[in-house]
Amino acid sequence: MKTFNVKHISLSLGLMAMIACTPKNVRLSSADDVIESRVENLLKMMTLEEKLGQMNQISSSGNIDEMRDLIARGEVGSILNETDPERINQLQKIAVEESRLGIPILMSRDVIHGFKTIFPIPLGQAASFDPEIAQEGARIAAIEATSVGIKWTFSPMVDIARDPRWGRCAEGYGEDPYLTSVMGAATVKGYQADSLSDPTAMAACAKHFVGYGATEGGRDYNSTGISERQLRNVYLPPFKAATEAGAATFMTSFNDNDGVPSTANKFILDNVLRKEWNFDGFVVTDWESAKEMIKHGFAADEHEAAVKSANAGVDMEMVSYMFVKELPSAIKQGEVDIKKIDNAVRNILRVKYRLGLFEHPYTDTNLKDKALYADDHLKAAKKAAVESAVLLKNNGILPLGSNIKKVAIVGPMADASYDQLGTWIFDGESEHTVTPLAAIRKMVGNNVNVTFEPGLTYSRDKNKDGVRRAVAAAKNADVILAFVGEEAILSGEAHCLASLELQGAQSELIAELSKTGKPVVTVVIAGRPLSIGKDADNSAALLYNFHPGTMGGEAIAELLWGKAVPSGKLPMTFPKSVGQIPMYYAHNNTGRPVVGNEVLIDNIPLHAGQTSLGCTSFYLDEGWTPLYPFGFGLSYTKFEYSNLTLDKTTYNANETIKANFTLANTGNMEATEVVQLYTHDIAASVTRPVKELKRFERVTLKPGEKKDITIELPAQELAFYNIDNQYVVEPGQFELWVSGDSQSGTPVTFEVK
Ligand code: GLC
Repeated sequence: MKTFNVKHISLSLGLMAMIACTPKNVRLSSADDVIESRVENLLKMMTLEEKLGQMNQISSSGNIDEMRDLIARGEVGSILNETDPERINQLQKIAVEESRLGIPILMSRDVIHGFKTIFPIPLGQAASFDPEIAQEGARIAAIEATSVGIKWTFSPMVDIARDPRWGRCAEGYGEDPYLTSVMGAATVKGYQADSLSDPTAMAACAKHFVGYGATEGGRDYNSTGISERQLRNVYLPPFKAATEAGAATFMTSFNDNDGVPSTANKFILDNVLRKEWNFDGFVVTDWESAKEMIKHGFAADEHEAAVKSANAGVDMEMVSYMFVKELPSAIKQGEVDIKKIDNAVRNILRVKYRLGLFEHPYTDTNLKDKALYADDHLKAAKKAAVESAVLLKNNGILPLGSNIKKVAIVGPMADASYDQLGTWIFDGESEHTVTPLAAIRKMVGNNVNVTFEPGLTYSRDKNKDGVRRAVAAAKNADVILAFVGEEAILSGEAHCLASLELQGAQSELIAELSKTGKPVVTVVIAGRPLSIGKDADNSAALLYNFHPGTMGGEAIAELLWGKAVPSGKLPMTFPKSVGQIPMYYAHNNTGRPVVGNEVLIDNIPLHAGQTSLGCTSFYLDEGWTPLYPFGFGLSYTKFEYSNLTLDKTTYNANETIKANFTLANTGNMEATEVVQLYTHDIAASVTRPVKELKRFERVTLKPGEKKDITIELPAQELAFYNIDNQYVVEPGQFELWVSGDSQSGTPVTFEVK
């Protein structure tokens, strides 16, 4: 078959076409000019079949010969799930040398929190409140993944998640739009380097667009009912931040919101993403999410599903092959305009050109030998795990001192090299995991007697004999380290729970261990917030790690012995029980907020009068506060906030609020505090959250050190979508807090004129 080498087509034709169709107000850079003209030139040469081929993503069947004809016909724009550089080069060679136009394939993979060197799950990275951790982790993931030829990852997931029953809260950055926006944008920048043309750059994918985390009942793939205003004030901001960070692609979400599946939701895909945000990358569906609109009852058949998603603004379809099959007839029948197809192909080709795929379609197969598990990668993964750990309780037993001579390590997560890596690990290898048991033995084994009796062999294990063995082994220890939590499979996609208690006999294990009278340090390794109140009561200390990845064991060992000091803060609220859900800090006040003297169930007198308990918004059995609030996390030192003042008491909307305060480290260890700034719009055209995180920063102080700090907040960032769905700063009174979590601190007030 005669093939054209698209690299050498003259640019003149395309340049004229491009200038003709570029909106007047958009001034393209010369690099953009060149890419746009190459896109136009190539598009002009493509047949309808070749255009639809670019819009078609397949999952590798594993058999290259099976895929050869499809690729040679130009019917494949992207392949997911190939990770061997030799095979990727073979597949690419077919596309470049055997197809008529030689358009390279975009190789993709779910590289979610590391490729081979595994970082803490994104929820854990969020607990660090350190965007540099996210950016460095993504940069390393991109270096490792591109070393085998992967040029597109389906990450970051920036879905707001306020329901820990939902297994996918593990993959995002928690409940807060600002924290998620900052971490998501940093992750995009990490993947994409300073330019997509960087050989180690990997196209990011902001997912799942949009509202997926509000899934009813915390049950995956379920419907959502989010109003436009709530979408705009809570669920869309992290995606806007990802767009502003330059995310090359977006992925539609499985859920139907208010009856409309995202994969055919024109309002989000066209009105918001293209017209309001000027996104010029491309949109891919989730796995068969276009075809699933038949099951949703939103399409009668594959033809209608293909027409609806193409017309809504989807550019590429993941693995259900409907665009190739159904769109030719749809175009012929006038159901889909060829202009839609041309725009979709433009978006895809633009990303491929930006990635430099046409110039460099092949991978140097030696790259991976130096890239994978490089020492600096492992070091960065350990640092991320240290910063992601959250200390929830400590009666003083931590950090462990030289007086500790006998340590009993128990529990199913102490040496769980596979499960410690967490969910969405396609390529991480458990033989590279450093578990807490291995790390503790290595770090203190020479001068501390370390025994290990797991008691339970996996997190769901109900074996009471194992509990007895573990208790017996722990009787003579100076301290018991109980490693509990969740196997990796218990969180992530489709892995939702109706109870948030520790699985199996883990709680009994902790209870029995505490009866020995020895201090129990409980270390949780899990993929979500768990209702661990009774386990905390039975523990002298509680250290929480959201699946910390390859180097988690070394991080935990260093934290337990004080070589590192916990600084993590909770990115999601921990409810006392599943019955409190939804429970998140940025809730509305209601007309009957609690006043604090509500009577709880154990104190209700017999024959209590109907209205005697307090007619406010709380639970008789579990009150109105969570187990642990958003933003909470302890240290081995104490931080004190004082002298909070503002530079003014009244601002206009284009001024900047300067919050000044003093932070003191009143303890005896150098440590880092995540300082958090919250605001509250006291009265507005719609009810507003009682608090919203607007700034955070990590501040490290030496023992006894005091620091005067100023945090600046442009008043413009008080804007929200109001009663008319207009994005405005409304005049009025505001409160402002600076504190170490979402529940503490005394506010100052100010006015916006
Ligand atoms: C999955 C997930 C999505 C992932 C995609 C490809 O179903 O929803 O997050 O990127 O399919 O594996």
